[in-house]
Amino acid sequence: MKKRVLSGIRATGRLHLGNYMGAVKGMLELQDNPEYETLYMVADLHTVTTPYKVEELRKNRREVVLDYLAAGLDPEKSILFEQSDSPHAELAFYLSSVVNIARMQHLPTFKDKVKQHPNNVTMALLNYPVLMAADILIYKAGLVPVGIDQEPHLEVAREIARKMNETYGTDFPEPVRFATRGEYVPSLTGEGKMSKSIEGSYINLTDDLETIQKRLAGAPTDSGKGEKIPTSGGVFNLLKFVELFEGIDARKKYEQAYRGQGIAYRELKENLAQAIFNELKPIQEKRSELERKTSYVDEVIKRGAEKARKIAKETVLEVKEKMGLSFN
Ligand code: ADP
Ligand code: TRP
Repeated sequence: MKKRVLSGIRATGRLHLGNYMGAVKGMLELQDNPEYETLYMVADLHTVTTPYKVEELRKNRREVVLDYLAAGLDPEKSILFEQSDSPHAELAFYLSSVVNIARMQHLPTFKDKVKQHPNNVTMALLNYPVLMAADILIYKAGLVPVGIDQEPHLEVAREIARKMNETYGTDFPEPVRFATRGEYVPSLTGEGKMSKSIEGSYINLTDDLETIQKRLAGAPTDSGKGEKIPTSGGVFNLLKFVELFEGIDARKKYEQAYRGQGIAYRELKENLAQAIFNELKPIQEKRSELERKTSYVDEVIKRGAEKARKIAKETVLEVKEKMGLSFN
């Protein structure tokens, strides 16, 4: 049997370079490897774990599918679907019977969200990692292409798999993360990671050259020379972007300049903007084509749901049977 791969992105808006480099690039690589069966979803259920607007979720679910297809995910090679079309929430409930509340409360990802939304600390939010474990385990996926920030959630998924196997004799694999070169894309602000919830931190996949230039213009720099190349902050992050989009040799060239005659940041940012745009342009062209193919996209989502549900239902029945529940 082929090894299964599962990943997903929450339906909270357009994708940015962090999502693309950390998650989508890994999804693409595994989709094209015949050793794997790949399932990629829109994590719409996870979207309701923090405050959201119903109309926006309706719209954003489709935005993620369009971004997936535009980036090259192929419904002939991967099962592309929406999480709420498959019984993940049901499995999450069964899995929650082996999960400790305190373990969930102490996760750094939970604490961050509590800080962001102190008046919306819901059961759904506490259950976030359990639902994510259900997403993966319902397909018995062993490999998960996601950014490094998701590692604590994968650790929980492994713990749940182990506990379920010990307690009920299921055969869940312990899922591991599939890392890409861009597993951590830094923020343009010079601090932390690129994230859609931090204004000024990101570049979207749909940004045109002018917008990319404008966003890069805001990234902090320094005098451009010195004996020691910074190991954090704005300049360090810019060099990371150069490495990701122009290659390691380009980065080395700038590092040499930093120690010598100095870096001209205007020129660096100009070249970088162009390199990023070159990578995004074909994705944007494909996206505007897809925006017109409404019934094709509808059909992709419908077919994906059928295929995903078929696999998921079997796992749910198996778990119910092993747990002593009715499985008719
Ligand atoms: P955001 O943090 O912007 O809300 P999500 O949490 O929806 O993004 O992340 C979706 C996917 O993109 C996950 O696999 C996550 O690991 C990846 N990802 C998000 N931001 C980055 C980043 N800055 N660098 C690398 N991967 C990232
Ligand atoms: N938690 C992930 C994020 O914020 C999204 C996600 C939900 C996911 N379920 C998943 C990723 C299952 C991989 C596998 O990015």
